[in-house]
Amino acid sequence: MNFILKAFLLMLPAYVSSPGAVLSRGKKPVDFGKDFFDGKRILGDGKTFEGLALGTLLGFIAGVIAEFLTEEELYGPFSIFLISFGGLFGDMCNSFLKRRLSIGRGEKLPVLDQLNIVFGSWLLCFFFDRNWFFESFNWYIAITVLIMTPLLHRAANILAYKLGLKYVPW
Ligand code: CTP
Ligand code: MG
Repeated sequence: MNFILKAFLLMLPAYVSSPGAVLSRGKKPVDFGKDFFDGKRILGDGKTFEGLALGTLLGFIAGVIAEFLTEEELYGPFSIFLISFGGLFGDMCNSFLKRRLSIGRGEKLPVLDQLNIVFGSWLLCFFFDRNWFFESFNWYIAITVLIMTPLLHRAANILAYKLGLKYVPW
């Protein structure tokens, strides 16, 4: 399989779980509306349990479909889950950091806003599915992911903005 396609398919569960979380229109914040020691929100209202649940599920389904449609074995159910949930985990870490830096909900944090899903999913795979992680993400696939993700992120956000799904194009 072409390595660019392989990089895309390996990350697909995370590419689906993030916009999947948006679709939930969730109301129950993961931080229960609570503040951190600095008096600012732990994560903010943009990170909800409904988003985690729907996003993880849709990302998981996308991975299962990708696995069935490809000849090559990409991943198993556990690694699909780690990539899907890991993307949202990275997104929550990003929000935690943004709140500490007094960056409000929906405001930009360049680079990390685009790559948090990659770091989150890689981190979980590194800790919980290490053999699969190093077999699947060799250095050129990893570099492809780091270049491709911000481009897809940008394209998806402009599209969502034009379709009226987002109020800001990032
Ligand atoms: N979302 C959610 N639950 C999640 C992640 C996202 O409900 N775990 C939904 C929220 O409605 C959120 C939207 O998806 O507003 C867009 O996600 P994102 O851009 O990550 O959040 P922001 O609102 O921009 O907040 P932040 O500044 O914390 O990133
Ligand atoms: Mg945002």
